Amino acid sequence: MRIRFKPWARPEIAACAFCMDDAFALRGKWRSRFKNPDQPFYVELGCGKGGWISQASFRNPQNNYLALDIKSEMLAMAKRKTERLFAEAGREPDNVLLSILNIERISEVLSTEDAPDRIYINFCNPWPKMSHKKRRLTHPRQLCQYAAILRGELHFKTDDEDLFRESVEYFRESGWEILTQTDDLHADEPADNIRTEHENMFTEMGKKIHFLIAKPPADAFGKPLPKELWEHHKEETDEEEPES
Ligand SMILES: C[S@@+](CC[C@H](N)C(=O)[O-])C[C@H]1O[C@@H](n2cnc3c(N)ncnc32)[C@H](O)[C@@H]1O
Repeated sequence: MRIRFKPWARPEIAACAFCMDDAFALRGKWRSRFKNPDQPFYVELGCGKGGWISQASFRNPQNNYLALDIKSEMLAMAKRKTERLFAEAGREPDNVLLSILNIERISEVLSTEDAPDRIYINFCNPWPKMSHKKRRLTHPRQLCQYAAILRGELHFKTDDEDLFRESVEYFRESGWEILTQTDDLHADEPADNIRTEHENMFTEMGKKIHFLIAKPPADAFGKPLPKELWEHHKEETDEEEPES
């Protein structure tokens, strides 16, 4: 997705107390950055404009949240949305952190000390072209990074049928167990489902929302990553704009 350059984005992020400007320096220390470090720790990958992260952190003060996105413009919009929601209620956003990151480098930023209790992937770019599929956030080279640091489950939502079907295969071939799977989340929408900007947009277009919850293989936690799967990350820049 292309979004317009916003000159205010980077200065606002730099001045924001809950925006972390060097995610790499916080590897192994994320939990200690929250007011209540012992709370469950949930991470959203590709938060976009922040509809989900702002609501999730606001409604669930008993959990800590980290939202990551590759685009400073997206993160700045997520920051504004979160700030506004908490301020209107007279609350401090002390259970939410935001940071810029190319998620293809997530293992350089999260470790087994951080051990998220849950990872959320909401409407990631589908990358339909064969030569781009490895950039999908559900691709096996990503799944092995998540499995090495994830204590709990991964929740994945998308409108894209091909991405969903092929992702189910990625999870299976990577040894993950799929605990829940539906091709129409809204047919019996869970009370705690938080609709994202893309979820609202695709729903209005009449598209069905696919959803799954998956658990990584039991022996994957702390396992070193296969070198060939992540060596390419070093060559990519944090601000590379994904095309889909
Ligand atoms: C289609 S939007 C979905 C946004 C939001 N989750 C929603 O459901 O409305 C995908 C988001 O993922 C971000 N993104 C794509 N590839 C990424 C990557 N490799 N690392 C971090 N963020 C990425 C994009 O900048 C964009 O904000």
